[in-house]
Amino acid sequence: DWTSDTFIDSTVAALKEKIGSDKVVMGLSGGVDSSVAATLIHRAIGDQLTCVFVDNGLLRKNEFEEVLDSYKHMGLNVIGVDAKQRFYDALAGLTDPEAKRKAIGRVFIEVFDDESHKIEGVKWLGQGTIYPDVIESVSVKGPSATIKSHHNVGGLPDFMKLSVVEPLNTLFKDEVREVGRALEIVETIIGRHPFPGPGLAIRILGDITEEKVKTLQEVDHIFIKGLKDHGLYDQVWQAGAILLPIQSVGVMGDERTYERVVALRAVGSVDGMTADWIHLPYEFLGKMSNEIINRVKGVNRVVYDISSKPPATIEWE
Ligand code: XMP
Repeated sequence: DWTSDTFIDSTVAALKEKIGSDKVVMGLSGGVDSSVAATLIHRAIGDQLTCVFVDNGLLRKNEFEEVLDSYKHMGLNVIGVDAKQRFYDALAGLTDPEAKRKAIGRVFIEVFDDESHKIEGVKWLGQGTIYPDVIESVSVKGPSATIKSHHNVGGLPDFMKLSVVEPLNTLFKDEVREVGRALEIVETIIGRHPFPGPGLAIRILGDITEEKVKTLQEVDHIFIKGLKDHGLYDQVWQAGAILLPIQSVGVMGDERTYERVVALRAVGSVDGMTADWIHLPYEFLGKMSNEIINRVKGVNRVVYDISSKPPATIEWE
């Protein structure tokens, strides 16, 4: 029978055998999968593993600093790269969702290639691929998938010529979480909602600016913290906020305002393939709306997305 402990023992042994004294490089995303995969590889080969965590400027508020800190506490040898401006430059003026995804994927590869060049004698690329990725389901749009799809293209960046090591590619998400808990990875990483590789860029409809990112980070932070404070976070599979490309009229004091609209989204799902909108309590939604409008400059209206997948998708782009 499968248990996380036997999985860990046999996987660590197999990784030791396979990797030997070689060096491995691996990109971390802050998500469950890459964190668990890195921890397993680290158990097997220690500091022969170098991890790279890229700040693409599209993460949640404070996420880069907090997650980087957790990684360091876990003993991982991790390089944090501030590449915010490179991503904003590449995104400037882009409005088409796929164009945004492509730009982000391309810059990620450039940044990762730059970093992996700095590590001498790397032979392996670690990846957090899980079984559903292998059978091509939900995560086919993420940075790791970008890496995979580029395998067919000529002129590969150097790191892509590395052999791939994917210790989680037989596991489902709940098994990955179990393994992560057995490895004593902090609950803030293990229990975290899925978050798309292109991050807030696909939750800002239209073009991306740093100011829009800041606005959405504030809104998202209030909503996610609210879910946690009200004991709702773990009842939701994924949640977030979307910055809409429209303004609406409002009133503040005697003044007419003309400001942005944000949508809140919270869904239940098993694997992201289908999803139902969550019936969050009205009192909670009202509280979130007040807090957001009072505290986030430039937002005067909040709506709640009551669409399920299909026919809607979880993300708006
Ligand atoms: P949709 O919007 O297709 O999302 O219903 C299903 C799940 O996939 C995530 N998602 C992505 N993940 N890169 C990713 O790594 C992407 O480009 C991407 N697009 C959507 C989404 O957050 C949800 O969990």
